[in-house]
Amino acid sequence: MFRTTIISAALITSALVGAQVVQADDAKPYTVVDGVKVDAKTMEGFRVWREANCAACHGPNQEGLVGPSLIKSLQVLSKDEFVTTITAGRLERGMPAWNANKRVMDNIDSLYAYLKGRSDGAITRTKPEMIAQ
Ligand code: HEC
Repeated sequence: MFRTTIISAALITSALVGAQVVQADDAKPYTVVDGVKVDAKTMEGFRVWREANCAACHGPNQEGLVGPSLIKSLQVLSKDEFVTTITAGRLERGMPAWNANKRVMDNIDSLYAYLKGRSDGAITRTKPEMIAQ
């Protein structure tokens, strides 16, 4: 197990030589290579964003439409505030509650990772691709 981890870490490292890597940490819940390749969790967040059609109100590139720009929002919104807003919505202001949507609720961390990466400017394209395994 330990050996496998070292070997795969070495493989990943050698595959990434010359690439610009943003590695996940406490402040950055995503890993991004060259602005467009992301880890599996972040990729799942993008899929949920698409499936839930958040873009209908927040714009195809999160830039805002009838709902606010999430690029700007996530620069100030905490993770807790994000989770509360998605879960309960802000019904009187037009943001639906997603607590009955299992796909969204089960993947709320992934959704946050993807949107935070977009907001930080680390994910430079709306539709990312998966880092090669
Ligand atoms: C029917 C339109 C609509 C849909 C669909 C929608 N939103 Fe919203 N959302 C809004 C509106 C309008 C607001 C602003 C509420 C307010 O003024 O406080 C908002 C607010 C938010 C906020 C808080 C922004 C801030 O600055 O406080 C977040 C985060 C958010 N939405 C994420 C999402 C995500 C993720 C999805 C998809 C799962 C989604 N929204 C789907 C309309 C929508």
